Amino acid sequence: MLFSQFMQEWLYEDRGYYSQERTIGKEGDFYTSVSSSRYFGGTIGYYLYKLILKNRLPRNTVVCEIGAHKGYLLADLIQFIYTFDPDLIKSLRFVIVEPFEPNRVMQKSYFQDSFADEVVLHHVASLEEIQEDFGFVVANELLDAFPCELFQDGKIATIVDEELQWIKAPENATKLATELDLEKGELPVGYEDFFQNLTRSFKKLEFITFDYGEWKAQNRFTLRTYRKHETKPFEEIDFSKDYKISDITYDVPFEYTKDLALKHGLDGEYSTQVKALIDMGILEILEILEKNVTHADYLKEVATVKTLIDPTILGERFKCLRLRRISS
Ligand SMILES: C[S@@+](CC[C@H](N)C(=O)[O-])C[C@H]1O[C@@H](n2cnc3c(N)ncnc32)[C@H](O)[C@@H]1O
Repeated sequence: MLFSQFMQEWLYEDRGYYSQERTIGKEGDFYTSVSSSRYFGGTIGYYLYKLILKNRLPRNTVVCEIGAHKGYLLADLIQFIYTFDPDLIKSLRFVIVEPFEPNRVMQKSYFQDSFADEVVLHHVASLEEIQEDFGFVVANELLDAFPCELFQDGKIATIVDEELQWIKAPENATKLATELDLEKGELPVGYEDFFQNLTRSFKKLEFITFDYGEWKAQNRFTLRTYRKHETKPFEEIDFSKDYKISDITYDVPFEYTKDLALKHGLDGEYSTQVKALIDMGILEILEILEKNVTHADYLKEVATVKTLIDPTILGERFKCLRLRRISS
């Protein structure tokens, strides 16, 4: 079986890592920006609020999260919008793209606890079910959870008897490796379809995505697993014992990703997470907060923001693409 198929099964098929209920954060296998601070989704919400103020998006825009896990990011976004313009949460329409029923149940219940009947949450199983005029779409660590092929010296990996075996790469894999300018590393699978579906779903679109990665593919294997906050690099992964019980992921090559988006009519900014959050207004939010809470509470909140923007924590290891439609 091709490695991409094996990774798809690992993460999403019967009893796959993500097809069952998972905890993200302290009690789980890894942290994400979402699980680290509510100012992550909050800043994205503030940015959306400002886009609407500038008439760049209408008040009935569809706000959509993909790969939402428990729904914390979208809920934080809504909570922050509420503090700036309580009426806006009545006209915006909130959607989560969620293929897995256990996650849909968790998200519904979290929204019910957080907002009672003030906010209506809609679900779709895939982007193909959406056909809207205006979309504001967010994703955190979505693309690094797509499967990939492993490529090395003109060969790609297969899994035979739970071990890696290398076979001559088909032409399309060699072509992609040339495009990514790598002799060794991951070849992402599914990105092209993703951008096609995304741009078919919304006529006017702002898309924001954060992921581990670098501008250029790194010419080495970045594939790794996470379990109980321990990381195993590629060389140490046990494709039998770690199967389905650890998260498996890799670095997103952003130049390739942005080129694909451009092919589908989207363009915009690539930056580190810290730069993106500052551009979207995280420091303005802190200034507002400082004026409205005690200094002790302010310092508590700043500590969580630090995790998001400190270059030695999440600020630079994570990158962001903020894209919008430039043509249809
Ligand atoms: C690394 S987790 C990130 C979860 C959350 N966004 C966070 O930051 O805490 C990736 C999530 O993306 C979801 N996912 C992967 N492919 C997807 C797709 N095509 N549509 C919707 N969700 C997807 C997985 O099921 C998983 O819940």
